[in-house]
Amino acid sequence: MSRHGLAHAFARVAAAAALLVAVSVASGTGALAAGQELGKVLPTRSPEKVYSSTCGYCHGHNVGPIIRGRGLPVETIEYFVRHGNGAMPAFRPTEISNTELKALAQWISQAPVDAKEHGQ
Ligand code: HEC
Repeated sequence: MSRHGLAHAFARVAAAAALLVAVSVASGTGALAAGQELGKVLPTRSPEKVYSSTCGYCHGHNVGPIIRGRGLPVETIEYFVRHGNGAMPAFRPTEISNTELKALAQWISQAPVDAKEHGQ
């Protein structure tokens, strides 16, 4: 490899390393979801799955208010999930991805009342 070629190759490696650092900072690699391996992207879960594993044990079980069947606005649901409120914790994009949240908020907004749920 010529001197020039070597310098070029080095510049490319440096750029790739810088990009990797930027990506891991942006995605907050320090905060992996439970069971997630470093460098592995978790598959997108269905709204039903996210609701039953993350929301449903409070909402529908007397901890939080009933949120299905009320036609809550999508934006309101998204806001509560990202910011939390009182006893409700906030969820980060590493826990519920933006794609999952969009689908989840839409699903909750349109979901009918579930007679098995109870709460305020
Ligand atoms: C640890 C229990 C808990 C979990 C888990 C939880 N919430 Fe909540 N949530 C609450 C409580 C308690 C409130 C009422 C907070 C308040 O207004 O003081 C609430 C309020 C809300 C509200 C506002 C409802 C209203 O009538 O104003 C929405 C929307 C909501 N939660 C959505 C969700 C979604 C979606 C999830 C799952 C990603 C979730 N929550 C997970 C406890 C929880």
